[in-house]
Amino acid sequence: MRTDIKEILSREGDSGITEVEGWIRTKRESKGLAFLELNDGSTIKNLQIVVNESLKNFHEIIHHLNNGCSIKAKGNLVPSMGSGQSVELQALEIEIYGDAPVDEYPLQKKRHTFEFLREISHLRPRTNTFGAIMRIRNTMSFAIHKFFQERGFLYVHTPIITGNDCEGAGEMFQVTTLSDKPQISDEGIINHENDFFGKKAFLTVSGQLEGEVFACALKNIYTFGPTFRAENSNTSRHLAEFWMIEPEMAFCDIRLNMDTAEEFLKYTMKYLIDNSLDDLEFFNSRIDKNTLGRISSIFESDFARITYTEAMNILKKSKKEFEYPPHWGIDLQSEHEKFLAEEEFKKPVIVTDYPREIKAFYMKINDDGKTVRAMDIIFPRLGEIVGGSERESDYKKLFDRISESGLNPELYWWYLELRKYGTVPHSGFGLGFERLIQFVTGMQNIRDVIPFPRCAGYLEF
Ligand code: 4AD
Ligand code: MG
Repeated sequence: MRTDIKEILSREGDSGITEVEGWIRTKRESKGLAFLELNDGSTIKNLQIVVNESLKNFHEIIHHLNNGCSIKAKGNLVPSMGSGQSVELQALEIEIYGDAPVDEYPLQKKRHTFEFLREISHLRPRTNTFGAIMRIRNTMSFAIHKFFQERGFLYVHTPIITGNDCEGAGEMFQVTTLSDKPQISDEGIINHENDFFGKKAFLTVSGQLEGEVFACALKNIYTFGPTFRAENSNTSRHLAEFWMIEPEMAFCDIRLNMDTAEEFLKYTMKYLIDNSLDDLEFFNSRIDKNTLGRISSIFESDFARITYTEAMNILKKSKKEFEYPPHWGIDLQSEHEKFLAEEEFKKPVIVTDYPREIKAFYMKINDDGKTVRAMDIIFPRLGEIVGGSERESDYKKLFDRISESGLNPELYWWYLELRKYGTVPHSGFGLGFERLIQFVTGMQNIRDVIPFPRCAGYLEF
């Protein structure tokens, strides 16, 4: 069993001959000695390796041991004389796997901009920031599964290729095999009868509709998968491919839905603090001084809960100059979300009961006929992080909503039948995984919290 640096650094005192492998982060030389900082990705911390002239071919080897070079080192692990680390490895043997020539290796010591690092997404995981982000993504994924598994939710794998538009917003990527030999009619219309599926197909924008199928049989389910949106928004919070967590619960109204979402967000934040402190401390000291405070403020306070109508009244009363003047009927803009979460409440806010015109067809209509049982969770710094609702469970009302949204009810026949046979009140929500990672790391741009970002006009790697 090979040892990783995380485990080695947890040891105290002499622990004899130890072997490690990793990439060199820095080299310092002084009077017949060289100090290497080795990182193997298991932790943000490096292991110091001390190499002295007694090493065979010392001068030749040291010449190659540059930033980025990959090595295996064997030596004695001893308490460190220097400050900054408790143990260090006194090298007896060093084997070089791969050089990284100083004049070519793109990741040199100086700090690079995140824009530049995006252009080398194949190497940026070797930086402190991206290594930490990837470990945090991993911890958060685990916390998410743990939360639902502990509560008896089933993990359901919903399809990626779909024939329906869940959000009804028409922001879908089409999937076709016709592109090489398009069959276009005289009217310029592509005939999809000969396409792979014999009809139009898309990449899913959400697993919700299929999730509802399983909730309406197995009670509590969740999905955690990639979703795709062809929206042309070049913002710091939009990706064309992102990961979403979508629980769906039968026999659940909007209140229980909100309680679950709030408990869920608090649980994952707490789990992260308890399990990823080294990485979070890096963000706290290098990216945003309030990282730890911001995360703990989530599980230490109760979220505010207001209706859309109350939100509009607060915004109007604020006398603030908004670019989009608030009035009943418009969608909440990010400037409005910012005001509510950062100035008015100074904590997460759940906004419910939006006008039906601005929300998706599947949301349950309230008795007033004007609003739907939507619930969006708005976070300071970020704006909307969760979108959810109680679902319309009445066949006739749902049929009418699909039609009035300009969608073809025939395409949703199976979704409608869930309301025809043994319909139940049910609810769910969707959490954008990358927005969650943005919040906990303090990273400004969503493109920097996903391994390989895909956005309008950008697809490298
Ligand atoms: O509000 P949305 O569109 O809701 C749904 O998709 C519902 N079907 C969810 C459900 O009820 N099961 O998206 C949910 C969340 C948003 O709040 C946001 O966090 C994230 O997904 N999101 C995006 N994240 C990154 N890039 C984008 N383009 C995103 N669009 C939505
Ligand atoms: Mg939304």
